[in-house]
Amino acid sequence: LSQKKLSGKDGAGFLLTDVVSISDFSKQDIEFILEKAGEMEKMKPAKKAKILENRVVGVLFFEPSTRTRISFETAIQNLGGHVVGFADPNISSAKKGETTSDTIQIIENYADIIVMRHWIEGAAKRAAEISPKPIINAGDGANQHPTQTLLDLYTIKKEFGKIDGISIGMVGDLKYGRTVHSLAKALTHFKGVKLYLVAPESLKMPKYIINEIKESMQIVETEELEEILPELDVLYSTRIQKERFGDPVEYEKVKDSYILGKEILEHTKKVFRIMHPLPRINEIKHELDETPAALYFKQAANGIPVREALLATLIKKQKPVKK
Ligand code: CP
Repeated sequence: LSQKKLSGKDGAGFLLTDVVSISDFSKQDIEFILEKAGEMEKMKPAKKAKILENRVVGVLFFEPSTRTRISFETAIQNLGGHVVGFADPNISSAKKGETTSDTIQIIENYADIIVMRHWIEGAAKRAAEISPKPIINAGDGANQHPTQTLLDLYTIKKEFGKIDGISIGMVGDLKYGRTVHSLAKALTHFKGVKLYLVAPESLKMPKYIINEIKESMQIVETEELEEILPELDVLYSTRIQKERFGDPVEYEKVKDSYILGKEILEHTKKVFRIMHPLPRINEIKHELDETPAALYFKQAANGIPVREALLATLIKKQKPVKK
C-alpha cells in the first residue's frame, strides 16, 4: 500500500502512517492532531507516561536544532518513552560515509518511531518509503517542516479561537524558509484566509508554492511591510537562512531586509501578534518581547503538546511498506 492510500484524505480521524509533508494532510488529519494536542495539555502526567511505555524513539538530527529536537525528546519522555539517536551527524557513522538509507535501515531495528532532520530535500520521504517504522520529518532542507506547521496552526487556533478568516503576513526569507512553505500549504484547508507575502525580489515565495495555494486564498505579494501592517492579525517573521545561500554576497545584500521593532505596533490592530519559528538573529528586536504582540515564545512552547499528539497517534500505526 502506498502512503497516499493510507493518508485518510477522504476519511475521518488520522490515517497517516508517516509525517513527511504537510501536503499529505487532509483537513481532518490536521484537526485530529490539533484536538489531540489540546487533550495532551489537559492529560494527567501519570496517564501520559503510559503512552510510550517500553517504547523507543530514534531521534536523528543531521542538521542543527534546539527547539525541534529538544521538544521531541521532552515529548517522548513525557509519554514514558526512551530516546536513542544523535544531535550531530559528526558523532554518527554518517561521518565515515554511511548513507542515510543505511542509517535508517539500522535504526528501524532499534526504534518504534524515527524522527529525523536532514539537509537533503526529500530525505524524510525516502526514509518513509524504505522503513516499516513511522517516520516524522523534523525538517528537510529548504523543503518542509510539517511538525512546525502543526504547532503554528495550534498556536493560531489557541490565540484567535479559529484559523478561518485569518489575515497573515509572512515576512523575510520566503524562498528558503521551509516553515513558511509548509504553513502556506496548510492554510489552503481554511476558509477566508488572506496571505500577505513580504520579501525582497531574491527571496520571494517560490512560484510552485504560489501555484499550489492561489485558488484557495487571497494572496498579496509586496516588498513593503508598512503598507500591509494594518491589515494583519498575525505577522510570521522568518530568519534569512544564511546557510542555504550559494553566494555570501547575496546574503549580505538581504540580511537586514526586515527588522521588526516597537514602532510597528503604531500601525497594527489590537489583536495583532508576531510569530516566528525561531531561532531569530536580528529580525525581531528584543524590545518587542515584553509586548502583548510577542507570540513566538508561547509558539515554541506549543511544540510539546503537538509533538506528544503526533507521537501518541503514530505509535498505534501499523505500516504495510513493501521493501
Ligand atoms: N523552529 C525550529 O525548527 O527551530 P530549531 O531549528 O531550533 O529546531
